[in-house]
Amino acid sequence: MNQEAISTTKTEKLESAKAFNFNLFDPKFNANPYPTYHRLRESEPVHRYFIGGDWIVTRYADVKAVLKSGCVRTDDRPKSIQERNKYLKDKQKNLNTLAYTTSRFLFYMNPPDHTKLRALVGKAFSPVVVERMRPQIQEIVDELLDKVRHKGSMDIVADLASPLSVSVISRLLGIPKEAQQQLHQWTNVLSRILDPLVSLEEYQAMNKATEEIQEYLRTLIAEREKDPQEDLISNLIAAQEQNDRLSQKDILAICTLLFGAGEETTGNTIGNGILALLQHPNQIEQLKTEPTKIQNAVEEIIRYDSAIQMLTRIAIDNLEVGNRTIKAGEKIVLCLGAANRDPAQFPEPDELNINRGQNQHVAFADGIHYCLGAALARVEAQIAINTLIKQFPDIKLASNKLEWKKSIVIRGLKALPVSFTK
Ligand code: HEM
Repeated sequence: MNQEAISTTKTEKLESAKAFNFNLFDPKFNANPYPTYHRLRESEPVHRYFIGGDWIVTRYADVKAVLKSGCVRTDDRPKSIQERNKYLKDKQKNLNTLAYTTSRFLFYMNPPDHTKLRALVGKAFSPVVVERMRPQIQEIVDELLDKVRHKGSMDIVADLASPLSVSVISRLLGIPKEAQQQLHQWTNVLSRILDPLVSLEEYQAMNKATEEIQEYLRTLIAEREKDPQEDLISNLIAAQEQNDRLSQKDILAICTLLFGAGEETTGNTIGNGILALLQHPNQIEQLKTEPTKIQNAVEEIIRYDSAIQMLTRIAIDNLEVGNRTIKAGEKIVLCLGAANRDPAQFPEPDELNINRGQNQHVAFADGIHYCLGAALARVEAQIAINTLIKQFPDIKLASNKLEWKKSIVIRGLKALPVSFTK
């Protein structure tokens, strides 16, 4: 065991961070994290970060090994939310709803509870359900593009990527049109849950949003109990696995999770992907002439600029990663974005190449928490991108000043203005 790594002193940690001269919360890192990832991966692929002493892992092979390891568990976020109750002046405004709901979010759960719940959700959310959505997704994309056609310009994020992902997950769950925008606003507040640094006020805002989401969903679930429809909420009510059924609290948590997880990530993937294609004219031209390359192209854009850049795990036992030993109880930050640009796995990783073969990226993670919505996200991105470039073939970027959302975990543009011939 590498004792030196474990007993790194505060000064050494600061020296180490200075040597890399990087700060995860620097706006420059936010705008373009990839040069930093490369430096980290080359100099110290398993690096001890000076804030909090987390381990940062950037090599593809190491990230993949940790994701598949039985020696790690998920982040303790729900527990730490519960513990924050003690800092609240007004005990009535506690964080209990948020703490409970997130404790039933699959990506914060561990076996055996995770295994049981995932089997039940997986049953309701099968590939057949996703495949059936294709015509509906096409219809939504066509409607959205029709709305902007006369203008000759649009914001890809606000006019296509975001409303598409909200509509699709809403239709899948069975959420009526008039409630979709409100749910989108609530889950937007809740999406801060993924970030490592969250203030008490933000937790309170998330707790309030969760209460409001659930108040709305409770009525909808009651309606579906009486009168089942062809939607995921009805499927979740009916889902049964070895005499196990989902409780109402579980259904509420799962719907909240699916709405949140299915919306922002997919929206950001479409935005990031269209930007990447517009910045690589030879690739977008190829896709226009050969639209059947769309599956490969979507895999490549998901690898190239992943919507989720980092995941956290905690070591259950001492764990060897790269040449370092991570002690039981220590936190590990897995940089999916860095792993997906590792030259040892992806030749010329900074090139966008829609013909890339063997594209086994980790943008959807791996192991027991592999993204449940990967198939849906892929189909949405494929239809959105191919329809966009078919209908607006001379589409181009309308601004060079692009701003990224302020998060080190979620990677997505605030807006992506483009223009095209009316
Ligand atoms: C391109 C878009 C998407 C990306 C990049 C993405 C990424 C991820 C990642 C990295 C994880 C692993 C989390 C962890 O291990 O801690 C995950 C899990 C998950 N994703 Fe996605 N996701 C996307 C779209 C979706 C969609 C559309 C849905 C649902 C409709 C969804 C639902 C889930 C769920 C339920 C989990 C938890 C699975 C588990 O822990 O067993 N995701 N996703």
